[in-house]
Amino acid sequence: MRRGSIVQLVAIGVVCGAGATAVALGIPWLPHAASKQAGRIDFVFWFVTTICIVIFALVASVIIYSILKFRAQPGDDEDGPPIHGNTRLEIVWTAVPALLVTSISIVSAIVLTKNDHLPHASAASDPLHPLVVNVTAQQFAWSFKYPAFGNLASARLELPVDAPVKLQITSVDVTHSFWVPEFGQKQDAVPGSVNTLAITPDRMGSFPVICTELCGLGHALMRSTTDVMPRDKFLSWAKGQQKKLGGSGGSAGLAVFKAQSCSSCHTFVPAGATAKIGPDLDKLPAEAQRAGQPLEQFIHESIVNPNAYVEPGYPKNIMPTIFAQLPKAQLDALVKFLASGGKQ
Ligand code: CUA
Repeated sequence: MRRGSIVQLVAIGVVCGAGATAVALGIPWLPHAASKQAGRIDFVFWFVTTICIVIFALVASVIIYSILKFRAQPGDDEDGPPIHGNTRLEIVWTAVPALLVTSISIVSAIVLTKNDHLPHASAASDPLHPLVVNVTAQQFAWSFKYPAFGNLASARLELPVDAPVKLQITSVDVTHSFWVPEFGQKQDAVPGSVNTLAITPDRMGSFPVICTELCGLGHALMRSTTDVMPRDKFLSWAKGQQKKLGGSGGSAGLAVFKAQSCSSCHTFVPAGATAKIGPDLDKLPAEAQRAGQPLEQFIHESIVNPNAYVEPGYPKNIMPTIFAQLPKAQLDALVKFLASGGKQ
């Protein structure tokens, strides 16, 4: 092969490789990782992408060079020269991809094993090693419970940074799927079984929790938020929440209202809530009257069995029935808080 041809081949390969690299780097293909697991997944992604760019540049340069140099001239109707196999070439193009694919599978296997790893919890040890969170999915809401903190319930997933977290995910109705794009993994929420997901958040901030399995009419609304905070802040949140929710009176009611994210669907002025997906809770007395029930009984029933009476103008089956599982004291505090018009 002439030296000039090699220079041309390499030049075409460099241009194609640079173009592919620009596409790979110039577009934010992946969310900005916020967990150790997502960081490892990103590593596999870039490992594979680099191999792909090199192979693409190689193949593209040979194809483009061949099109330019060896195309038939106008009026040339001859057959091409008869060519037999080239054993050396065939061995090379079989062995190289085999090696590359094997290396990809080894790297993937290491990452998958590391991503599934969780420290074994021993009794009375650090509640953050790992932090166990029970995740319950239901049409169309998420609920997060912290067994190490008196089974504290929250509608937002609050997590400490740099601590291993074991999510135990299940569903009470249909199949949903838990996904925080920045954490890099998904896990199905299946009724009747518990699936685990290991996450070690390593970047602070608030990220969306998304249901990523079509689960019914409110699927697109089935979202929450996860907040990754310093360890101290998480511990004081968990302990403060335990205290507030365990209290009585209006402040406990407000704490439950906030912990369950009632404000993401309802308007209730005393709690600073302004959402309009569900009925206005400032008008509960009038709504109870329309339902023909005493106020407190109406509120209680609307929380635990929301389809028993649906305010005209609002669709059925949108309000989750998940709140029926609230501890009785919290449920009572919430009912009293709402019935009193938000008195603390
Ligand atoms: Cu739950 Cu989609």
